[in-house]
Parts: sequence; structure tokens; C-alpha cells
Amino acid sequence: MNREDFIMRFEALKGAMLTFLRTHAIDDTHRARLVGDIVNTIEKAHLPAEPQAPRQLPGCRHLQAALALARGGPMENLARAFADLEPALRWIRTEHYREQLGDEYMNNYCYTNILGYDALIPHERIIIAFFIIGPGRHYPRHHHGAEEIYFPFGGDTLWGQNDQPPCLRPPGQPIHNTPWLPHEMVTQQTPLFSFCCWKSAGPLALARLT
Ligand SMILES: [Fe+2]
Repeated sequence: MNREDFIMRFEALKGAMLTFLRTHAIDDTHRARLVGDIVNTIEKAHLPAEPQAPRQLPGCRHLQAALALARGGPMENLARAFADLEPALRWIRTEHYREQLGDEYMNNYCYTNILGYDALIPHERIIIAFFIIGPGRHYPRHHHGAEEIYFPFGGDTLWGQNDQPPCLRPPGQPIHNTPWLPHEMVTQQTPLFSFCCWKSAGPLALARLT
């Protein structure tokens, strides 16, 4: 992908993220403030002169099945814009999970930060990410001081918060994790594929298992 093409695809993704966020998830004041901050940050985001080195990880083998989940749903345009830019993106993992979750888990999950750390556009407080977990996995209860919203693209993942039993969540509908609220995800037949927004009050600190 040449630079011109890269910039065009980035601008298309930026537009798709903004359109999606502006038309979703602004129906309660607390969440609206977070989404508003995220929207303002994306509006101001500019690509650095030096692009990051693209990288795929083993979990990327679930990418095509993940993208397919969005077809016909409320996040289809966002998924398409993401797929167009994906070859230029760098996939990462939270490496401190390896000890507790094992190699199998690490080989079946990954995410790429559009904003944040090790990201297309570095940012110290906000993370905008696309996140994949393969079928039949459990991302156990974890928490963090940052406020977070997941928007599932589709699929049959069970989403748990606090002590409630994990349940299905409809595509495009936000799952809002307030600071330190324990949460977990259980994937079934399909991968989990989610658009994620995260805002730290202070310097970034990654999630820890509870
Ligand atoms: Fe989280």
C-alpha cells in the first residue's frame, strides 16, 4: 500500500469510526461524555510522518471470520473500512497474560490500536482498538481503572459484567465497563470481534486479571 493509498484508507476509517460513534451510544449522560471525548480525539487525530511497521499475529487467522460477523449489521461499514486499512496495521497482545492464560490463548487473540500505545497514532489517555478472540476461549474476569466501551460487530460471544452470568449482546450495542468494574468474555462458535474505546484518567495502565 503506497502512502497516498494508506492516507486515503485511514481517512475512510476515521470517517467510519466517527459516523458510527455519533449515531450510537449517546443515550445516557455518563457514557455520552466518554463517547464525546473519544469523538473529539478521533477528529483531531493525524497520522505521524513515520508509519508503524505492520505485523500480523497467529490470532489474525480469525480475522476473515470476524469480519464476516459484521455483514448486514449496524457495524458493516466500520468493518469494511477497517478491513481496507488492516494490511498496514500492527497487531499486538497484552504479553503479561501469557503466564496466566497460556500459549493457546495467546495464539488465538490479538488487537490493533488505532490510537493508544504501540498504535497507528500514539496517544497517552485514549485507546481505540479492534479486538479479536478466537472461538471457544475465555477471557477471564479482569478490571482496570480506565473506562471502556466495547461494541461487538456480531457473533455469539457471552459478555459478563460484575457477578452477572455472561450473556449475548446485540451487534452495535455498547458494553460499558466503568472504572474497576470486573468483566469477562466467553467465546462460543464464532470469534469475538469488537470495536473498543478506552479512556484513562491518568497514564495508561493495562488490564489485570482479578
Ligand atoms: Fe476491559
